Amino acid sequence: MNYSEKIKQLAGFIRQSRRVLALTGAGISTESGIPDFRSKGSGLWEKVDPMEVLSVQVLKRNPQRFYREGFVHFLKLENARPNPAHEVLGWLEQREFLAGVITQNIDGLHQKAGSQRVMEVHGHIRTGHCMRCQKKYPMGFIRGKLDTDINPPKCTCGGLLRPDVALFGDAMPNDFWRATAEAEQADLLLVVGSSLSVSPANSLTRLVERVAIINLEPTLYDYQADLVIHEKASRVLLDLKSQLEG
Ligand code: APR
Repeated sequence: MNYSEKIKQLAGFIRQSRRVLALTGAGISTESGIPDFRSKGSGLWEKVDPMEVLSVQVLKRNPQRFYREGFVHFLKLENARPNPAHEVLGWLEQREFLAGVITQNIDGLHQKAGSQRVMEVHGHIRTGHCMRCQKKYPMGFIRGKLDTDINPPKCTCGGLLRPDVALFGDAMPNDFWRATAEAEQADLLLVVGSSLSVSPANSLTRLVERVAIINLEPTLYDYQADLVIHEKASRVLLDLKSQLEG
């Protein structure tokens, strides 16, 4: 099947489905200038070992290293803008072709692109909280502390502050359980820009009857998918939009 036949089939899947969800990964945000994690040559994990600088263990044992070498990568996300791939997912939701977006990303670009129902299964960078008293802080406060003080950010109670991002070693956020319940009700999962190499997020593909994968490189789940398109997310989603508008 050639590319345009695949776009037609994808539009057909969406029209035939009762409830469609998207599952997005870092690959949907690379066209917004944010590197993903595992692309050869550019993925963040080629430069940084997440277990060394972005795990709960490092945050507790060496908060200085966590903030100076790990979290610094997340702070770069705040000025990023959505790209056409995010915008088309927002359009699909508006036109009721899509019931919501499950995202592994913490960059908040789906909300900036107008998606209303977003489940952030790896958390987000809008807020943080105290590890002792659980008090919530806006990320601006934490960023301000990092800009002016060499020491890791602390709460008024003296406890260490941490971002509301799901770190390696964390339990899954509530949004993951919400996404699981939603996936069980869906009959099409549109995977966009994920290698599907991290569990339990990748297990969501097993809960939905039909799976379509849009990803530049092959993923671990291609063999199980009903449709696979190895192309750029923005190109595929813009062509899908034209097909659905036609
Ligand atoms: N269009 C489509 N696919 C793309 C694009 C693009 N423009 N750019 C990159 N990709 C693909 C890459 O080929 C890659 O397979 O997106 C995929 C991104 O995979 P990862 O880098 O593994 O990112 P992701 O799947 O989101 O990782 C999941 O791993 O480290 C954790 O918490 C982190 O949420 C992250 C999780």
